[in-house]
Amino acid sequence: MNIGVSGASGKLGQAIVRELQARNSDHVLVAISRTPASTPGVEGRVGDYDKPETLATAYAGLDKLIIIPTTDLRPGMRGTQNETAITSAVAAGVKHIVFLSAAGTREQAEPAIGASYWRGEQALIKSGASWTILRMNYYAEALADEAESALATGALTGFGENKVAFVGREDVAAAAAGIVLTEGHAGAIYNATGAKSYTGAERAALMGEVLGKTVVFAAIPVETFKAGMAQMGLPSFVIDTITGIQLDFASGAFDVVTGDVEKLAGRKPQDLRDVLVAKLG
Ligand SMILES: NC(=O)c1ccc[n+]([C@@H]2O[C@H](COP(=O)([O-])OP(=O)(O)OC[C@H]3O[C@@H](n4cnc5c(N)ncnc54)[C@H](OP(=O)(O)O)[C@@H]3O)[C@@H](O)[C@H]2O)c1
Repeated sequence: MNIGVSGASGKLGQAIVRELQARNSDHVLVAISRTPASTPGVEGRVGDYDKPETLATAYAGLDKLIIIPTTDLRPGMRGTQNETAITSAVAAGVKHIVFLSAAGTREQAEPAIGASYWRGEQALIKSGASWTILRMNYYAEALADEAESALATGALTGFGENKVAFVGREDVAAAAAGIVLTEGHAGAIYNATGAKSYTGAERAALMGEVLGKTVVFAAIPVETFKAGMAQMGLPSFVIDTITGIQLDFASGAFDVVTGDVEKLAGRKPQDLRDVLVAKLG
């Protein structure tokens, strides 16, 4: 079987390729991005979501394709890229398409971060292709990235108490690999989540324990949050995106716990504590 990973050079893409190699070496693996690398057992192909003509060649002959969206936050860009990738995969005759989406995806307009995932999911569902959607919860690694500011201020901030079932990137990768290496996933929408949803206070306490400092959870007004980022000189579309993520946190969009990682990956998801220790300990 020919399995393609689009976005293979990124952090998630590399993890998926590693999982595919570790779990079954009998398949032909194709790593696709603008800067592809061919490594032993993996064929690199150029495929640019902004240049559909490159995707026709990149996706040719694939039985299964995992499409990973980019981190391009410019309003509308990623939604268009997702639609382009899906249309191109269908036109290239890919037999099964797996789209990596986000937990809590629903109809949203730009600049909400979910808008691009919504566009991708809708394009895929309407495409007539055989498909699976894997919605990622918020990464445990992304929470670890907040440690520096938590150390500086003694607080993790949000717009109100909320719960999030953080998932490790490696677990998302293992679940995605499981979808393409086994059968029976057509038409399924899975949620890759951790095994437990953490309140703000719980995750702040956990981060504090790992860092050996006191960290609390503090609810702050949306305008204060935005003003802080503006002071750092961030462009308005980035401020809107980060604010949108926190609004999603507050509305419970990431308060989803499923057994999908264990089912697809064949092992339990990592504990948030273990990911924090690995990154911060
Ligand atoms: N849920 C969460 O907490 C969370 C956290 C982080 C990321 N994410 C999401 O997970 C996804 C992957 O994240 P990541 O950390 O793996 O991102 P990353 O490391 O930045 O990788 C992005 C990948 O997209 C490729 N790419 C960028 N522009 C492209 C284009 N125009 N055409 C084709 N390929 C392009 C890049 O390769 P080239 O540059 O070689 O083209 C790279 O392979 C993104 O959708 C991101 O938003 C979610």
